[in-house]
Amino acid sequence: MADIRNIVILTGAGVSAESGLATFRGPDGLWEGHRVEDVCTPEAYRRDPALVHAFYDARREKLGTVQPNGAHKALARLDAEWRGDLLLVTQNVDDLHERAGSRRLLHMHGELTRGWCLACGEKFAWEGPMGEGAVCPDCGAAGHVRPDIVWFGEMPYDMERIDEALQRADLFVSIGTSGAVYPAAGFVQTARYCGAKTLEMNLEPSLGSYFFDESRTGPAGKLVPEWVDELLG
Ligand code: APR
Repeated sequence: MADIRNIVILTGAGVSAESGLATFRGPDGLWEGHRVEDVCTPEAYRRDPALVHAFYDARREKLGTVQPNGAHKALARLDAEWRGDLLLVTQNVDDLHERAGSRRLLHMHGELTRGWCLACGEKFAWEGPMGEGAVCPDCGAAGHVRPDIVWFGEMPYDMERIDEALQRADLFVSIGTSGAVYPAAGFVQTARYCGAKTLEMNLEPSLGSYFFDESRTGPAGKLVPEWVDELLG
């Protein structure tokens, strides 16, 4: 591991599964109970904001009942102890990485715990239900606050910073993501093309497992602490 200094880690819903949060795809996945085009697009929000708010209000409420698991905690320990560059990019909109203690963290798909006022453009922390009539804490307008979530068809956040980190990475690690959604699913290819070693940890081989030098299959709560122990020695 002596040649590894810059690490980029990508996480997906699988890293929070053992905390009790549903993943998206698969038998009990969120996309089994809801159609993406009903709750996760700007068009859905224009058509039926009450339905979209109900979906995210329920997910925000659920956050209050769950705790970070061993995978979140191991990644927070790595963040605290790794002396080289490290960037944790999560597709998750929950707050379990920060609650575990991760600091070098980007939420590329937004956060359930933040709101965005479409009247004044401000973004802010949000607790509790949002609903259709939410009042902006900044401009005071009612009925224009949406969850600060990146919906299908919208641009993920921080792409320039992520791309720059991928290009400099010596090691790229993907954890608990199916590899079904771009651009995140393509990060492994950028990192690999720019010379990084690539490792995936997932319950099953992901759609992009072909691009990884090494694939470890199993629960993140077991695999991630083992890997962090290996890396920190
Ligand atoms: N440990 C490791 N991996 C797990 C675990 C676990 N305990 N449980 C499930 N997984 C794996 C599944 O096998 C699956 O491959 O996690 C992956 C989760 O995949 P998805 O449900 O597709 O979630 P994700 O990859 O994060 O989805 C990406 O899609 O709908 C959008 O915006 C949403 O950010 C999300 C994006």
